Amino acid sequence: MVWLIGCKGMLGTEVAKQLEEAHIPFVGTDKEVDITNPHALEDFEANVERESYLQYDSADRHIRWIINCSAYTNVDKAEEDVELAEKLNAVGPLNIARVARKIGAKLIHISTDYVFNGRGTEPYTEEMEKDPLGVYGKTKAEGEEAVQKEMNQYYILRTAWLYGFDGKNFVYTMTKLMNDRDSIKVVSDQFGTPTFAEDLAGVIIKLIKKSDSAKEIFGKKSAPAFGIYHFTDEGVTNWHDFAAEIYRLGTKFGRIKNKCKVEACTTEEYGAKVQRPHYSVLSKAKIAKELKIKIPDWKTSLEKFIKSGRFDVK
Ligand SMILES: NC(=O)c1ccc[n+]([C@@H]2O[C@H](COP(=O)([O-])OP(=O)(O)OC[C@H]3O[C@@H](n4cnc5c(N)ncnc54)[C@H](OP(=O)(O)O)[C@@H]3O)[C@@H](O)[C@H]2O)c1
Repeated sequence: MVWLIGCKGMLGTEVAKQLEEAHIPFVGTDKEVDITNPHALEDFEANVERESYLQYDSADRHIRWIINCSAYTNVDKAEEDVELAEKLNAVGPLNIARVARKIGAKLIHISTDYVFNGRGTEPYTEEMEKDPLGVYGKTKAEGEEAVQKEMNQYYILRTAWLYGFDGKNFVYTMTKLMNDRDSIKVVSDQFGTPTFAEDLAGVIIKLIKKSDSAKEIFGKKSAPAFGIYHFTDEGVTNWHDFAAEIYRLGTKFGRIKNKCKVEACTTEEYGAKVQRPHYSVLSKAKIAKELKIKIPDWKTSLEKFIKSGRFDVK
C-alpha cells in the first residue's frame, strides 16, 4: 500500500486521484497526521497496519511506499515564518524518512528548483551544487539532505512553477486578476518552466509501477535507480509570457471575459519581498531516460488545464 502524505494539497489531490485510477491501494493523510510530530507518524503507521477499517486485504495493508506531498509552500511568508517553514520542510521529511526506513518503505519526496540560486544559464542537472536564496529554498534543501542521510531507498523529485486544479496557483491568480483589471504587470526577467500537477502525478505513478514491476535480469534489478530527479514540463518561458499565454487561452476557452493588457516589467520594478531565482530551468534528461517518457510541452499542458471541466477559480 502507498501512504500519501499531504493528500489534500494541490499536488496531493492529483496524486490521490491518479492512484485511485491506477487501482493502487493507498491511504491519504494531511494535517491530522502532523509530520512535525514523529509520534503522530509512528502511531498512524502502527495503526494502519493493525486496524481492519481499510478496504484492502491485509497483504495490501503493509506500507511499501510513502509519498510526501506536504510542505510549507508560501515562499514570501516563509521569510517571517522561519520556524514553521523549518519544521515542515526540514524536520517533517526527516521524521517521514525515519518511519520509512523503519518499515522498509520506499520514499518519494517532492522538492523544488528553489534549492538553486538561479544564477545559472543552462538547465540545472541533479548533481549541480545547491545554493538556496531564501528561507523556503534553504528549508527544502535541508529536507532533501535529511532524507538522504536517513535512508537509501528514496526518490527526491524536484519540480518548479507548479499549478493544478485544487490549490492556489499562478494560473488561477492571473485568471482572477485578468477578469478584474484592465492591465497587469508581470515580470519578464525570471525564467523557468510551468508544470501541470497532473503531469507530475503521472510521473509519480509511473515511478511506482516501474519499480514494482522491475524484474531481475542477470542479478540486476531493472527498477529506476534511487536518487534525485528533476521533473517539470518541457520548454522555457518567463512569468510575463506565461501570463500572456494564460490570457490567450483563458480568452479562447471563456475563462477570461474581460479585456486586459498584460505588460512586462523587471523584477526590480516589481519590487518583490523575496529574492527569487532568475533562472530555474531544470534538466529532465535523467528522468526521461529512466522512465522512458516523453515530457509534454508546457503550453500543451496549460491548454489541457484551462479547457478542463475541473478548472475552477475560487
Ligand atoms: N507550488 C509550487 O509552485 C511548487 C513548486 C516547486 C515545488 N513544489 C513542491 O511540491 C510539493 C507540493 O506542493 P503543493 O503546492 O501541492 O503544496 P500545498 O498545496 O501547499 O500542499 C501541502 C499540503 O500539506 C499540508 N500540511 C501542512 N502542514 C502539515 C503538517 N504539519 N502535517 C501534514 N500535512 C501538512 C497542507 O495543509 P494546509 O494547506 O491546510 O496547510 C497541504 O494540504 C511541495 O513539496 C512543494 O515544496 C511546489
